[in-house]
Amino acid sequence: MSKILITGGAGYVGSMLSTALVNLGHEVTVLDLMKYDRGSLNHLYYFKNFKLIKKDVRDKKLLKSLLKKNEFIIPLAALVGAPLCDKYKKDAVSVNHHSIKNLVSLSSKKNKIIFLTTNSGYGVGEKNKFCDENSPLNPISLYGRTKCDAEEEVKKSKNFICFRLATVFGYSYRMRTDLLVNNFVYKSVKTKKLKIFEPHFRRNFIHIKDVVLGIIYAIKNFNKLKSNIYNLGLSSANISKLMLAKKIKKKMNKLQIKIITNRKDPDKRDYFVSNKKIEKKGFKAKVSLDQGVEELIDLFNTDNKKIINNY
Ligand SMILES: NC(=O)c1ccc[n+]([C@@H]2O[C@H](COP(=O)([O-])OP(=O)(O)OC[C@H]3O[C@@H](n4cnc5c(N)ncnc54)[C@H](O)[C@@H]3O)[C@@H](O)[C@H]2O)c1
Repeated sequence: MSKILITGGAGYVGSMLSTALVNLGHEVTVLDLMKYDRGSLNHLYYFKNFKLIKKDVRDKKLLKSLLKKNEFIIPLAALVGAPLCDKYKKDAVSVNHHSIKNLVSLSSKKNKIIFLTTNSGYGVGEKNKFCDENSPLNPISLYGRTKCDAEEEVKKSKNFICFRLATVFGYSYRMRTDLLVNNFVYKSVKTKKLKIFEPHFRRNFIHIKDVVLGIIYAIKNFNKLKSNIYNLGLSSANISKLMLAKKIKKKMNKLQIKIITNRKDPDKRDYFVSNKKIEKKGFKAKVSLDQGVEELIDLFNTDNKKIINNY
C-alpha cells in the first residue's frame, strides 16, 4: 500500500478518488481548503488510513513536509473552470500555476506526481481532425492557460504522469452542475427545457468513475506510464452539444430543445480528442454517456440537496 497526498481531495474529482484509494487500503492525506461542499469527505473520517488537512496548498512549509511523508502526489487543488478564474485572476495564477511550480521544485526523486490538466488546452480544433498529445496547445481562457503553464512545470520533474482530461460527468460527493453533461441533464430535469447556443460545438467527455480508475491504473503502472502526457477521455463520447441534448431527449420524451442562434457561447471549445495513446498502454474508459445520463436523471429527480457550484 502507498502513501498518497491528494491536494484538492475534497473536490468533485478528489472526493471520489480519495474514497476509492482509502477503500483500497492506501494511506491517504487530503490537503484542501474545503471551499465548496464541507461534507464531501464526511464518510472517510472513520478510517484510520485517512487524514484531512484543512490548509492552503500555497503554504510552502506545509507542502515541503507533506512531500517528504508521501510517495504519490496527486495535485488537484485549483480554481477550476473559466468563469471562476476570470473572477479571481490572481488566485487562479497562484493556485493553478505557482503552487504547482513550488510543488515540483520542493519534490524529491521518491515523489511520483500524477497531474490532471484539461484538454481545453487544445482550444479550437481543426474541422474533422482529432487532437492528440502532439497537437499544438492553444488555450483560450485564463483557466486553460494556467493549466498549460502548470503542465510545463510538471514536465520538469522526471517522475510524472500527466492526464489531459475530457469534461467529466457523473455523480460525486461534491457535486458540480456547471460541467456540460451534468448541466444539461440538471436543466432538463428541473425545467424540461434546454436552450443551446452554438449546438455544433464538439467536446470529449469521461465518466468520473473512469477518471478514478485511470488514476488507480497510473498508480499501479507508474513506471510503464511515467514521463508522459496522455489524453484521458471516453473515445465513443466525442460528440457535439446537440448530439448530447438528443441523447438526453431519448430518455426524457417531454424535453424541449431550443437552439438559440443570436447568442454566442462564451466557451469556444470545439474539438475532437484522440485517446489512443493511453488505450495502447492498457487503460480504456468504459462508462457510456447513456449510462451517465440515466444516472444523472435519477439523481436530479430524487436529490434536492442544494448544489454549490464554484462561481
Ligand atoms: N472536472 C473536470 O471536468 C476536469 C477536467 C479537466 C481537469 N480537471 C482538473 O481536475 C482537478 C480537480 O477538479 P474538480 O472538478 O474536482 O474541481 P473542484 O473545484 O471540485 O475541486 C478543487 C478543490 O480544490 C480545493 N482548493 C482550491 N483552492 C485551494 C487552495 N488554495 N488550497 C487548498 N485547496 C484548494 C477546493 O476546495 C476544491 O475542493 C483540477 O486540477 C482541474 O483542473 C477537472
